[in-house]
Amino acid sequence: MSKITAAITAVGGYVPDYVLTNQILETMVDTNDEWITARTGIKERRILKEKGKGTSYLAIQAAEDLLKKSNTDPKDIDMVIMATATPDMPVAVTGVYVATEIGAVNAFSFDLVAACSSFLFGMSTAAKYIESGHYKKVLLIGADKMSSIIDYEDRSTCIIFGDGGGAVLFEPNYERLGVQDEILHTDGAGRPFLRIDAGGSILPASAETVANKQHFVVQEGRTIFKLAVSNMADVSEMIMKRNELSDKDVNWLVPHQANKRIIDATAKRMNLPKEKVMTNIHKYGNTTSATLPLCLNDYEKKLKIGDNLIFSAFGGGFTWGAIYLKWAYNGI
Ligand code: ACO
Repeated sequence: MSKITAAITAVGGYVPDYVLTNQILETMVDTNDEWITARTGIKERRILKEKGKGTSYLAIQAAEDLLKKSNTDPKDIDMVIMATATPDMPVAVTGVYVATEIGAVNAFSFDLVAACSSFLFGMSTAAKYIESGHYKKVLLIGADKMSSIIDYEDRSTCIIFGDGGGAVLFEPNYERLGVQDEILHTDGAGRPFLRIDAGGSILPASAETVANKQHFVVQEGRTIFKLAVSNMADVSEMIMKRNELSDKDVNWLVPHQANKRIIDATAKRMNLPKEKVMTNIHKYGNTTSATLPLCLNDYEKKLKIGDNLIFSAFGGGFTWGAIYLKWAYNGI
């Protein structure tokens, strides 16, 4: 029997309606459109404003978009992997709730946490379950309500992040389409550079931690920027080399959308023109676990069977890597 590979067979996405523009941010913190555009490439991001709605809401909308577009019966799904850095709550698994809400009643589910690399690591995980031969439909969702952990008085973080969700369906393929190769890395030395100090087991929530605003993301942007540029470029170049792919062979770079300058540097090292680089950071900002599937959702119509895609991400932790995938269907 021919080898089973894990192919993406459907895509869905969702962003909330509220648009937080650079102009609105100018009224909230000491910043300006020119600085944000030049330093990050971001013009606006989407924010989930309604009270009582969390990351699961974004995930459910994205998954339902996929189910509807692909005419998939949720009862046929074997597992749901929920990639997120902002679960609905610390205990009570978000993915489990999402699976039940979308009607994936025969699936088992768990959350996967790896900061901005959550979706990339989720792709690797989903592929292994498919390649095992035991699972036929694995739904991978990446969603984050970043606005729930951002201090809108901190100009170094509030200009970057946005809310959104994306989903992909993995199924077995017998023609060698789908995931071909991966390079994944982590390094715990990164812990101090991007973190939320309170609300976890080291420093549980208290009146003092709230007063000190310790439930918000803090980051050393410059350090992360430098490492993201070198590491994303390194792994992307390495995965091309070891699969003997030239720049002509690569049809698309699907990069994590953290900063347009990081994306450009990665594409430059791969010698790819901007026409081959999926970019939507200008309209969504950094949606953390949702950036890669939202790219696929936005560019789905342009994709063709056999296209060579390189996914690349870098995030807190540190976590980073690249995945080489052959696309399995013509754009719809
Ligand atoms: N508006 C105006 N000025 C600003 C702003 C702002 N929003 N933010 C910072 N500045 C100022 C700084 O105070 C500094 O001023 P100074 O020179 O007088 O001290 C100057 O601009 C330059 O600041 P830098 O921090 O060096 O700016 P940089 O070019 O590095 O851009 C940024 C900052 C956008 C955060 C960049 O470092 C970056 O994108 N880093 C990577 C972030 C990232 O990828 N993070 C997340 C991974 S995601 C995850 O895992 C969840």
